[in-house]
Amino acid sequence: MKRAVVDPYKVKGEVDYNKLINEFGLEKIDNKILKKIEKHAGELHFMLRRKIFFAGRDLNWVLGEYEKGNKFFLYTGVGPSGPIHLGHLLVWYFTKWLQDKFDVDLYFQFTDEEKFLYRKDLSMEDVQKWLNENMLDVIAVGFNPDKTHFIIDTKHAGILYPEAIKVAKKITFSTIKASFGFNDSTNIGSIFYTSMQTVPSFLPSVLKKKKIPCLIPHAVDQDPHFRITRDILPKLGYYKPASIQCSFLPPLEGNLGKMSSSKSNKAILTTDSPEQVKKKINKYAFSGGQPTIEEHRKKGGNPDVDVSFQYLRYLFEEDDNKLKQIEEDYRSGKLLTGELKKYTIEKINNFLKQHQERRKKAEKLIDKFILKI
Ligand code: TRP
Repeated sequence: MKRAVVDPYKVKGEVDYNKLINEFGLEKIDNKILKKIEKHAGELHFMLRRKIFFAGRDLNWVLGEYEKGNKFFLYTGVGPSGPIHLGHLLVWYFTKWLQDKFDVDLYFQFTDEEKFLYRKDLSMEDVQKWLNENMLDVIAVGFNPDKTHFIIDTKHAGILYPEAIKVAKKITFSTIKASFGFNDSTNIGSIFYTSMQTVPSFLPSVLKKKKIPCLIPHAVDQDPHFRITRDILPKLGYYKPASIQCSFLPPLEGNLGKMSSSKSNKAILTTDSPEQVKKKINKYAFSGGQPTIEEHRKKGGNPDVDVSFQYLRYLFEEDDNKLKQIEEDYRSGKLLTGELKKYTIEKINNFLKQHQERRKKAEKLIDKFILKI
């Protein structure tokens, strides 16, 4: 098997998450950490129970600070380059759970310059359109409007830039090259960018003039940015940010890489109609079932590679017992692929219906969410 590549700009090959833990030097989320989270949250989110959020950095520390009354803030973000798909929602709905359970502020960064700089095919106009669309989805997740603050890189440049240069001064070109696979032909905006993604992890400390712990929920591909962030923040007099990291929701065609909005046939979008969801699942979702019903009844299916089953596990079936039953029935051949797909389609459509209703009302809330200085 070829070695998988995982960095913010490339996810290629079959990802072995245990290997990644070693390669990146991540901490596995163990029972001790789960217990601590449960103690404060009163329950464990199913994404924690199922190890979808599987690793992190300094979780013990950030929870310990919380116990001492030194509350953290949450920080996550998105680069507006296309429509929002289920892979984004996975991180955001979990982040909302953290916000609700720990009653904390969330800083949400929209890196419009990042996508403009990295994507040859996107104009600034395109990016601004996606920025607006993406903000609607973030609001639709249901974050607390009083505790959620949108940072838009080009709009908040006035407060971000003076901090970003302090970060940039401590990063060398060779670090950036090694972290992201860049070379001498990479545009210079992209080289600077990590310093912008670093700023929200200490901006609240700047604004409130005291050191505040930060916890970043994100998909594991963003870790290379935050490794750099963690090296630099103590040098600037701030805490290293802690993180909690998830694996990738598989794209429709199967368990390789991550879902991506640049290939919309491979992703289910938040704006998809029930018919579109039905078609995408029925036509494209990789099946772990057997080619014929007879064979399926005899040999059973494989839920581990079955995309519909994986979507239930990652996002849409909160009930562990129900999920286990589906898994057993599928493995034994009692449950057919068509039946599994039908159930998954219903679950996704129910979820999206509610998301879309909130999304429709989101436009007039945008202003309330944007960080005011
Ligand atoms: N670089 C991320 C992307 O491409 C966007 C981002 C900015 C982000 N800050 C973040 C993601 C913090 C997770 C956490 O989408």
